Amino acid sequence: MRPENLVEEAKRKAAREAVRQIEDGQVIGLGSGSTVAYAAEELGGRIKTEKIRVKVVPTSYQALMLAINNGIPVTSLDENPRLSLAIDGVDQIDCHLNMIKGMGGALTREKIVASASERLLIVADWRKRVKTLGENNHPVPIEVLPFALKPVTLKIMELGGKPIIREGGGKVGPVVTDNGNFIIDAYFGLISDPESLERKLKSIPGVIETGLFIDMAETVYIGEADGVKVLRRKN
Ligand code: A5P
Repeated sequence: MRPENLVEEAKRKAAREAVRQIEDGQVIGLGSGSTVAYAAEELGGRIKTEKIRVKVVPTSYQALMLAINNGIPVTSLDENPRLSLAIDGVDQIDCHLNMIKGMGGALTREKIVASASERLLIVADWRKRVKTLGENNHPVPIEVLPFALKPVTLKIMELGGKPIIREGGGKVGPVVTDNGNFIIDAYFGLISDPESLERKLKSIPGVIETGLFIDMAETVYIGEADGVKVLRRKN
């Protein structure tokens, strides 16, 4: 198999395994990204063939479209503020199951939906596992209120980060999130204490949310060339 097909196959296998956890009657969170797209396909298939009644709260316009295109009924946190589980992707994950998310720009809704869920199931291919968050010069995405862009940028620099305002494809200027905000990709190098960095970033006025997800993932499905590895949070 070509390497790119191996990766796509790994994503699909991880997604399938996570979707198996969904039970009839549940309301769940639907994350964003290309691995979640496979989960939406799998869930749409189960709804059609097994006739399970499942509704999703989408974490982005992409997730909303995925739900609609796969015949999955959509609901909101207003109607369902407590969710049985959420299925979402990840950009980097360490051995404590702490994560960096937000390369798709959906971090804020993803974190809200994850925290409204009893269980957060993560789906990914093997490339997302790292020893230390920030490896390979990976940034922390931070959603910022446009009014606060410059002061937040300066505060990130004071914390030792290199802030880059994310620019879009198909549009000039900054990426505008589903919530009407900007994204700063902040480069901190290796993040030895993600919990403390998260606290510091969240205390900056104008920071809406950060892509550091600490202690949130319950189970992680890692698609590999020869199967799916399941990692569970140790309490
Ligand atoms: C979206 O903002 C991110 O948090 C995604 O969950 C992440 O980018 C995963 O995407 P892939 O499954 O495409 O790698």
